Amino acid sequence: MNKIAIVRCEHFNAAHRLHNKNWSDVKNKEVFGKCNNPNYHGHNYDLEVKVIGACDPETGYVIDTKILSNLIKDKVLDRFDHKNLNLDTQEFKDLNPTAENIAIVIYDLLAPELASGLALKIKLYETPRNYVEYPY
Ligand code: NI
Repeated sequence: MNKIAIVRCEHFNAAHRLHNKNWSDVKNKEVFGKCNNPNYHGHNYDLEVKVIGACDPETGYVIDTKILSNLIKDKVLDRFDHKNLNLDTQEFKDLNPTAENIAIVIYDLLAPELASGLALKIKLYETPRNYVEYPY
């Protein structure tokens, strides 16, 4: 059966600081630049969640968008929206909250919730010009 992708676009705002505690302040500033600001800073993240699979013969859906939207709200937005990722979340207590790591965490939160046979891809924009994809 032909596979098709459905994409749900979502948005969240969050603060973060990129920092490696094993490095000196100088090296952190050198590598992470403005994203190392000790008092944090925010990004407007745009999130695209792509689900790939065959259409259910009874509904014609890969996944009901209402179900997908609720899933993203429960697992991702309620967890990260308007949060300081470093201070307010378990996921980034010991993990640098780069766009790369955020995308992988989001994938790991959503993937187990999907029916078997459905594949998942995450695209996360940290700025309109920078985004990451996982898996690529
Ligand atoms: Ni940043």
